[in-house]
Amino acid sequence: MSPGKPSILVTGGAGYIGSHTVLALKQAGYDVVILDNLVYGHRDLVEKILQVELVVGDTCDRALLDDLFKTHSIDAVMHFSAYAYVGESVTDPAKYYHNNVVGTLTLLEAMLEASVKKFVFSSTCATYGVPQFVPIPEDHPQNPINPYGASKLMVERILADFDPAYDFKSVRFRYFNAAGADPSGLLGEDHNPETHLIPLVLLTALGKRESIAIFGTDYPTPDGTCIRDYIHVSDLADAHVLGLEYLLKGGNSEIFNLGNGNGFSVKEVIVAVEQVTGKVIPVQERDRRPGDPPTLIGSGEKARTILGWQPQYPNIKDIVAHAWQWHQQRHK
Ligand SMILES: NC(=O)c1ccc[n+]([C@@H]2O[C@H](COP(=O)([O-])OP(=O)(O)OC[C@H]3O[C@@H](n4cnc5c(N)ncnc54)[C@H](O)[C@@H]3O)[C@@H](O)[C@H]2O)c1
Repeated sequence: MSPGKPSILVTGGAGYIGSHTVLALKQAGYDVVILDNLVYGHRDLVEKILQVELVVGDTCDRALLDDLFKTHSIDAVMHFSAYAYVGESVTDPAKYYHNNVVGTLTLLEAMLEASVKKFVFSSTCATYGVPQFVPIPEDHPQNPINPYGASKLMVERILADFDPAYDFKSVRFRYFNAAGADPSGLLGEDHNPETHLIPLVLLTALGKRESIAIFGTDYPTPDGTCIRDYIHVSDLADAHVLGLEYLLKGGNSEIFNLGNGNGFSVKEVIVAVEQVTGKVIPVQERDRRPGDPPTLIGSGEKARTILGWQPQYPNIKDIVAHAWQWHQQRHK
């Protein structure tokens, strides 16, 4: 560890949002160690682009965690690792509760043992379920409608109980739809399987997919398709650095939405991709999918006010352009 610079353990740092946050942490001068089991993470990005220590291991492995905390002087943990496929969480909930809840609890217990008590957690707007109103503030009721969202809400509850009991401070970020790529083009989204709209449309533009399915064109929205709040991954990464600094300065446990407070419909995203790439995107209009709320938009006001967070790329064209740059070079 460099003198005076805190050392941060980043679980899931070889994944999409984690890798962008590791880059932001490095740029802010922090020392970083990544723990990732590489089930979905990318070793090549850690080695070539991030160039930080990678411990290949699982958050469910208590012996490995104890050893990691003994051999490294860790000041705080950022916890991105989880499974995040909503559909799979419905068909195989045990997998999700095990990794997302048991894996997180194992990590938290190892942290208590090592007296590391600052934690930044990746929660999700899926904890809200079907919104009663939008933009969704942090005190909106939480009624998740799938095991993925429920697993994240369980961890939020564990963290709420840890604070008074162990003086354990956490920032819980509820992200809306993470999208885009680092503006350098060196990092980006590479999920396999991919389920997110923007990369799927871009893969269609690249000719890797024949068409893009639009699930539902009769929603009560201006063009009939679902509206989502897309938040640039580099803006998410900046929020994490601010959340970490808030905790390191002695801040109390807090919950923040990370969203732009406005949304784009599926059709608007497809038009943005056509404008950025110059390609015509073939679409197939299908029936609605069960469980898709018409509109999900999050208020990010609290993060702006308390953390001083200022998203740099709220424009869908910037988000798509950065993602396009990444996808073109990743899928050469
Ligand atoms: N992508 C989004 O739009 C979004 C929205 C809301 C919340 N989130 C949350 O943000 C976090 C990061 O999402 P992402 O899109 O970067 O996912 P990702 O799959 O790209 O990254 C997760 C990383 O964690 C690793 N991992 C999984 N289980 C592990 C374990 N038990 N031990 C060690 N490593 C493990 C994977 O190999 C992967 O590298 C997740 O917790 C997710 O639930 C994501």
